[in-house]
Amino acid sequence: MKIVIAGYGYVGKAVEAALKSYHDIRVVDPAINDDTINSKIYDALIICVSTPEGLDGWCNMQNVYDVVKQSTYKPILIKSTISLEGWKHLAEEVPEKDISFSPEFLRANTALEDFAQQKTMYISENNFDFWAQIFRQAFPDISFKTAAAEELILTKYLRNSFLALKVAYFNQVKDLCDATFTDFETVRRYVTDDERIGDNHSYVTEEKGFGGHCFPKDTAAILNSARDVGEEFSILRKAVSYNRSIRSGLRE
Ligand SMILES: NC(=O)c1ccc[n+]([C@@H]2O[C@H](COP(=O)([O-])OP(=O)(O)OC[C@H]3O[C@@H](n4cnc5c(N)ncnc54)[C@H](O)[C@@H]3O)[C@@H](O)[C@H]2O)c1
Repeated sequence: MKIVIAGYGYVGKAVEAALKSYHDIRVVDPAINDDTINSKIYDALIICVSTPEGLDGWCNMQNVYDVVKQSTYKPILIKSTISLEGWKHLAEEVPEKDISFSPEFLRANTALEDFAQQKTMYISENNFDFWAQIFRQAFPDISFKTAAAEELILTKYLRNSFLALKVAYFNQVKDLCDATFTDFETVRRYVTDDERIGDNHSYVTEEKGFGGHCFPKDTAAILNSARDVGEEFSILRKAVSYNRSIRSGLRE
């Protein structure tokens, strides 16, 4: 199958690496070439473009909209992280385009390995069989699960939000240890010995709190989506504002 990948960053590179032995892959990304999607003959399109934090924390999906607009009526799979409002916008503006969503959970530092070693791929209901078939060739042993696109959009945001909460929690655990003259590292290790807790995201870095490519923008985006439907999501809102204060050196 001839597949175009739009966006050749961490996610696009990982998707290409996994699929290139099984499909004819072409990449379109203004950062590396002058190609456009329309200059390609292709059967399907996978969107891996950046979706940065936009005004007031909303997910800026302009890159996704641009690529969708350029594409012809071939199946499209969005691997970029997108918002509920953005998905609704696509459904309203281009209902004729055959769009599916598949959340991506790789980590930037270990993108290729994470993608290669994934155990489950989630693909929204529309065109599930088509996309599962494309990836099954590269991943014969993983399970493919499906749900409504909106449920998978939330799944992506809520995993990152939970991990961000965990980082914030352990930052406050460290403060409690310091205030009680106990050794944070000992407490951290023994708390996380409980396999239900686990030691990922329990470290307190020099910068404090959470940062990086995804947690700040994804938590900001889901908080906006929550407020949009009248949900405060106060536990996450508090963690995000606490995080902002410790990262800028100001305590709440
Ligand atoms: N990096 C991660 O750890 C990670 C994990 C899961 C999901 N995601 C999500 O996947 C998406 C991509 O993330 P990334 O880390 O690969 O981003 P990235 O910034 O590394 O790469 C994105 C690429 O998209 C290209 N691009 C932008 N507009 C384009 C357009 N109109 N046409 C073609 N290419 C275009 C950019 O030039 C860039 O090379 C984002 O939505 C991100 O939130 C990232």
